[in-house]
Amino acid sequence: MRESWATSGSDLHLDLDGPGGVRASLTRALREAVRTGRLAPGARLPSSRSLAADLGVARNTVADAYAELVAEGWLTARQGSGTRVARRAEPTARRLAAVRRAPSETAARPARVPSPPRHDLRPGRPDVSSFPRSAWLAATRRALTAAPHAAFGYDYDDPRGRPELRRVLADYLARARGVRAEADRVVVCAGFVRALSLLVGLLGRTVAVESHGLWVHRDLLTRAGARTVPLPVDEKGADVAALPGTGARAVLLTPAHQFPTGFPLHPDRRAAVVDWARSTGGLVLEDDYDGEFRHDRRAVGALQDLDPERVVYLGTASKSLAPGLRLAWMVVPEPLMDAVLAARREAAETCGTLDQLVLADFVESGAYDRHVRAMRLRYRNRRDRLVAALADRVPGARVTGIAAGLHVVVELPPGTEEAALRAARREGVAVEGLARFRHPESPDTGPDGLVVGYGTPPEHAFTAAVDALCRALRGALGRAAA
Ligand SMILES: Cc1ncc(COP(=O)(O)O)c(C=O)c1O
Repeated sequence: MRESWATSGSDLHLDLDGPGGVRASLTRALREAVRTGRLAPGARLPSSRSLAADLGVARNTVADAYAELVAEGWLTARQGSGTRVARRAEPTARRLAAVRRAPSETAARPARVPSPPRHDLRPGRPDVSSFPRSAWLAATRRALTAAPHAAFGYDYDDPRGRPELRRVLADYLARARGVRAEADRVVVCAGFVRALSLLVGLLGRTVAVESHGLWVHRDLLTRAGARTVPLPVDEKGADVAALPGTGARAVLLTPAHQFPTGFPLHPDRRAAVVDWARSTGGLVLEDDYDGEFRHDRRAVGALQDLDPERVVYLGTASKSLAPGLRLAWMVVPEPLMDAVLAARREAAETCGTLDQLVLADFVESGAYDRHVRAMRLRYRNRRDRLVAALADRVPGARVTGIAAGLHVVVELPPGTEEAALRAARREGVAVEGLARFRHPESPDTGPDGLVVGYGTPPEHAFTAAVDALCRALRGALGRAAA
């Protein structure tokens, strides 16, 4: 078959307009591409045959242009490694690129990425070093082999997500979390935040949230024009009896494991919030962010089971697998489905097909259950070690909350949170203070404390991280007591 631009090597855009013949134009265009840095030092050029086919010129024309640029020092040609941009072209290209860069472009460069902390005990993050790479790879192979061609097309027809994944998730959620789910009502999203952004138009002007929670979610609601009002939280979870006084038509809760204080919603309050929703036409958003990880007993089932028409269930792979997958799901009450799908069409957002198919295979093959069980053991072991170390070495610190998830709250004596955070920073430990999670309008300041994630460090680094935290807290509390 004759090589054409559609089948030959790598793409190279060259503008051959200008004075002189084809060879002169080509030489000039290549020189310009090297000079401006568009062709990077060391970059391999297409073979003369394939570039000639691309451009529709004689092969000799390209060979001559290459030879001229080699002679000028812009390119190098070596037997076996083809024609490449000369390394020494680099400084000129870099200098010119720097000169050409407009001041506004310089200003718009992304902020420097902060370097990772020495000991990462930030909450809400799993141990990504334990990502099940080989099982995921095996699932990828199977999913790719089985996928119909149509799976790689646009999914405008069904913005809920791939049917394979929705079916598997509906079964899994019913089995493992007690959710009443049918595949038709499952919507796959690129993370909890994206799911929340699809729902926000249905929540009314006032949304009740827990007095302590993730600011990212509150900010998203505020940016969308809603006002968030805080519900107090205590050892029975959010005080939903306060809901009628808020004027809210919707409430965002973390019933299985309040984030970050760490208590489950009391059964009386579970019933009460559903009664509130039924009697007012309200809506409950159930954020089940770490429901897979209850360490001391069977996890309490989803609140959604009490009334699937009044509760939107939201889950995510961010804790159970990895946040980088950006895969989450919600089970939407039937009456809201059209509005959610309209929001999704309007946002023109979906999730990558392949990731969805792989997750579907991963769950269906049992690999997800195996991974979650293995991680549950690992996290339980870490939590036990952390709690024991704190009890042993930091008198005055008290771990609160149930044995679940990937974080604990370490309650501290009044007035010591800031000092503890400073001491942690000095030891290279990244943690959060409880105050950071507090709703700014919450009258209840809550206790001083740290929110310590035990998921993030790789296994070999965990003991050192706990030691550093204990040192920091012991020092800070000791100084405060002196
Ligand atoms: C309380 C809570 N809900 C939900 C999520 C999941 O968010 P996403 O799925 O966007 O990663 C997190 C992640 O940190 C969280 O802490």
